[in-house]
Amino acid sequence: MPYSGKDQKWLESQLQTDLIGKVIVLKGSVESTNDLTKTLAQKGAADGTVVLADSQTQGRGRRGREWSSEANVGIYLSILLHPTLSPEQAHQITLVAGVGLIEAINTFSQTRAVLKWPNDVLINNKKVAGILTEFYQGGDHNGIILGIGVNVNNSRFPVELQHIATSLAMENSGSLDKLPIIAAIINNIEKEYWRFMDGEFPTIIDEWNQNSDIFGRHISLSLGEQTFYGTAMKLDEEGQLVLETETGEEVAFDSGEITLLD
Ligand code: BTN
Repeated sequence: MPYSGKDQKWLESQLQTDLIGKVIVLKGSVESTNDLTKTLAQKGAADGTVVLADSQTQGRGRRGREWSSEANVGIYLSILLHPTLSPEQAHQITLVAGVGLIEAINTFSQTRAVLKWPNDVLINNKKVAGILTEFYQGGDHNGIILGIGVNVNNSRFPVELQHIATSLAMENSGSLDKLPIIAAIINNIEKEYWRFMDGEFPTIIDEWNQNSDIFGRHISLSLGEQTFYGTAMKLDEEGQLVLETETGEEVAFDSGEITLLD
């Protein structure tokens, strides 16, 4: 069912936030909630605006990948933020949002969801949610758009995604109501966001580490043309992934694409 005015009222009644979701824009089909949020931002949309759509015709993930956005089954939402942050801190916000997102998802999933660096949420080694963080230049400020996709009630995926994607319904017993999950995502991300702005990033990283199962595992990390192999050790205080290479050396990466090898 598409979102209704009643859904909007219910959602607003569940939010315990001072910033995120004070303005909620509900849409039917859009190309991408991130693109719409950027357009609204350029027209002066308020800090904390949330854009939520029933479906996306050009939903996208990291590295230009398509994000399967079938009508009504998933959560497709973007959050506009206008913080004053250095470029390094702006990149850390994906990890901050990841902690809020995993807490929300695990409130509703009996099968534990875990974080995969930098922005994936997995259940049973398959992707159930992801975050696409994008930046834009406003007239008098720079902005961040946190795009969040969660596979909730999908019962199947296109053939090319079947071995890598899953949904909360497929990993739990039956379909779930999306609205309480959306409220939890917004409430939790706002909580983590204020902790981040208060200088608590190291504690947030501890929580990130506790919510991930990549550590101690053999991984490959591709960065541009290069591939590195080793054991994932932890995220350090800056949110960089520390990899112990086959020679025993520890190397920290601030970006890259990892594959779990065991
Ligand atoms: C990823 O895992 O690569 C990130 C996926 C992010 C998908 C969401 S859905 C809402 C928002 N709009 C988009 O076009 N993408 C993000």
